[in-house]
Amino acid sequence: MTSTPRRYHITTFGCQMNKADSERMAGILEDMGFKWSQDPNGADLILYNTCTIRDNAEQKVYSYLGRQAKRKHENPDLTLVVAGCVAQQEGEKILRRVPELDLVMGPQHANRLEDLLTQVFDGNQVVATEPIHIVEDITKPRRDSTVTAWVNIIYGCNERCSYCVVPNVRGVEQSRTPEAIYAEMELLGKQGYKEITLLGQNIDAYGRDLPGVTPSGRHQHTLTDLLYQVHDISGIERLRFATSHPRYFTERLIKACDELPKVCEHFHIPFQSGDNEVLKAMKRGYTHQKYRRIIDKIREYMPDASISADAIVGFPGETEEQFENTLQLVDDIGFDQLNTAAYSPRPGTPAALWEQQLSEEVKSDRLQRLNHLVAQKAAQRSQRYLGRIEEVLVEDQNPKDKSQVMGRTQGNRLTFFKGNIDELKGQLIKVEITEVRAFSLTGEAIF
Ligand code: SAH
Ligand code: SF4
Ligand code: F3S
Repeated sequence: MTSTPRRYHITTFGCQMNKADSERMAGILEDMGFKWSQDPNGADLILYNTCTIRDNAEQKVYSYLGRQAKRKHENPDLTLVVAGCVAQQEGEKILRRVPELDLVMGPQHANRLEDLLTQVFDGNQVVATEPIHIVEDITKPRRDSTVTAWVNIIYGCNERCSYCVVPNVRGVEQSRTPEAIYAEMELLGKQGYKEITLLGQNIDAYGRDLPGVTPSGRHQHTLTDLLYQVHDISGIERLRFATSHPRYFTERLIKACDELPKVCEHFHIPFQSGDNEVLKAMKRGYTHQKYRRIIDKIREYMPDASISADAIVGFPGETEEQFENTLQLVDDIGFDQLNTAAYSPRPGTPAALWEQQLSEEVKSDRLQRLNHLVAQKAAQRSQRYLGRIEEVLVEDQNPKDKSQVMGRTQGNRLTFFKGNIDELKGQLIKVEITEVRAFSLTGEAIF
């Protein structure tokens, strides 16, 4: 191992969990004396934190890896690391495809990066994909933002949705203790962070694996309890959480969100399909009627709440009629935002083996039709902001117009307005909305 300062680069694919893991791994590398390199070609250590939720996400990783593997032939000191969900899914198999790799590590091993690299620098090629109990995050993450932060509260997922790789690659649910979460959030508050998003693949499962039940028989530690517990941490102005599962979403949680002023009135609750038979085949454990009741309940308490979700089109066997039930749900609910995807068969998942796979043409046609409706509905939803005064947490300069800053409303709409980032960063500013688009707003600050 050389003693000159080494440079590292991380490219992150996939969801917020991966982004949060990358921030922790970057913190570990900086602790070890590495310095950030924006350009991967200027780095001595390159880490790809990978995603395998759909086939195109996985393939992207291989093209990046191929390029760096070539570079390693000219520069044998280059350290190549693959972390995240592709690493977990493929394990040693990746080494056959890319023998130049030094380290293959699954998401559960993110906090062990220093240990694993020590083995690499001792001359080993290391694969760390065995399931482990996730060790507490003791290092200081290198966070991308100084205003908003992610805090994992539960890792893994115990659901078995028939299309999904997440349980295979992220392992079983492991909740962090309320004490550990509180301590991390308290520190964030002291460091000047204003908004925290609590993270979990199925955040409603929080606490199920922790000891303790109440006299009435429910788990003592739930997401709802946690929100009450962390609500008054000083410095933190806004709380968000994701991702919610309709199967476990409770009225108790809705009440808490209504009652607690710092909790943003924005709910991300994927429904995946608007058709009961498809939902059953997906093993989601709810009907579209139940989903609608949840949204009605939320709107009963908080009429202005923003609702976003994820949906899949072209699930194996999905008929045109069943797809139209998804369109109907989207039309009826009027989402503020919807992440849509064409079904992609994933290794190790039941649905990938079913016979009635749909053609790419059918899937992409349905995806287009759904996206068209989503944009239309989002534009309608945006209308309600016109002329209103919204509170915006300023995060950054608008990269496309340096005279503007940008941030999000409580309801999570991206908003631009004229202002100086050096003065406004991290501040909650009242903004009168003067222009609305489907997924963003423009306004004027009211000082
Ligand atoms: N835990 C969350 C979502 C996790 S994955 C939930 O339960 O909803 C993020 C999104 O990717 C999913 O909501 C789903 O819409 C999409 N997705 C997952 N597997 C997929 C697959 N095989 N093909 C297409 N989209 C998929
Ligand atoms: Fe995947 Fe279902 Fe778990 Fe979400 S709840 S991560 S879709 S298995
Ligand atoms: Fe992708 Fe893994 Fe997240 S598969 S969506 S990075 S949990």
